Amino acid sequence: MKIELKGNKALVTGASSGIGRALAKSLARAGMGLAISGRRKDALDSLAKEIVDAGGEAPVVLTADLSQRGEAERLGARAIEALGRVDVLVNNAGVGIGGSQVVVADDDEARTLFETNYWSPLALTRALVPGMRHRNRGAIVNISSIGSVTPMPLAGHYSSSKAALSLATETLRMELRDTDLHVLHVLPGPVETGMLAEFKVVPGGEKVLASMPRGNVETLAKKIIRGLEKRTRAFVYPGSLAIVRHLPTIAVRATAIATRGVDVSDQRKLMGGSSGGELALKARAAFENRA
Ligand SMILES: NC(=O)c1ccc[n+]([C@@H]2O[C@H](COP(=O)([O-])OP(=O)(O)OC[C@H]3O[C@@H](n4cnc5c(N)ncnc54)[C@H](OP(=O)(O)O)[C@@H]3O)[C@@H](O)[C@H]2O)c1
Repeated sequence: MKIELKGNKALVTGASSGIGRALAKSLARAGMGLAISGRRKDALDSLAKEIVDAGGEAPVVLTADLSQRGEAERLGARAIEALGRVDVLVNNAGVGIGGSQVVVADDDEARTLFETNYWSPLALTRALVPGMRHRNRGAIVNISSIGSVTPMPLAGHYSSSKAALSLATETLRMELRDTDLHVLHVLPGPVETGMLAEFKVVPGGEKVLASMPRGNVETLAKKIIRGLEKRTRAFVYPGSLAIVRHLPTIAVRATAIATRGVDVSDQRKLMGGSSGGELALKARAAFENRA
């Protein structure tokens, strides 16, 4: 059954910037009522204003820190209370960290990353899927990464969290196959956002990106909308990177070759995101202030 966006309700996490912000605008243009979430209230308020100025329904702003255990479950309940129901859940919020496995290990930063990138999407799924099942209508969109297939030195925690999310997404699809609910698994490659700017300052990041195509948030948002409308199961964007998903052994080998010479003795922990470390914040600010 086709998923009707117009008149229905969506919760978008990580809506304060990048992919989530562009997607929230596209969903509003398609006629959806939205709850938009992130930690930065100013950025969410300005998005809400942009949507209203463009003629869309005023979104509900729900700030939440998804690195805190329990916040995702509460966010799900708040979204239902504010919107009446949630038909489309977009698990988009995510964060990166640069640092080798022996430096980052299972430190607080690594646990924060997993709480945000993996546990929170699962908690939101449990908070919202029962309502969708009851109505036998709805969709879950999980924004994973092509990094779920190709690890690289000094970015292993991010890739591991996305690999876990990708497998959880495909498991969810199997668990919902006797329903009309739709699961859309999105695997972006490099897309120009603040997060990509941060990735470039991780040793080896620029080198890996040099041979890859770059995408933009507006085109990705359009593809997600089309994926929802056509009930696409999964896609890689930019599409020329789909081979990475289909031939993972070769992709892993190619990344290993491309990252030869990266200084893996680097002792830094480079926490990303809007509350990340100095280097990440500088890279993010330079991206946001670009001409
Ligand atoms: N850009 C790429 O090349 C690329 C490639 C593959 C996958 N992805 C994935 O795409 C998604 C969006 O990333 P992006 O590229 O658009 O980067 P971005 O601009 O940095 O957006 C990340 C979003 O996640 C939110 N977020 C981060 N930590 C959070 C926390 N603790 N609690 C609540 N929200 C949090 C941020 O909101 P606040 O800062 O306001 O909290 C922000 O809205 C992520 O899941 C990322 O892993 C991106």
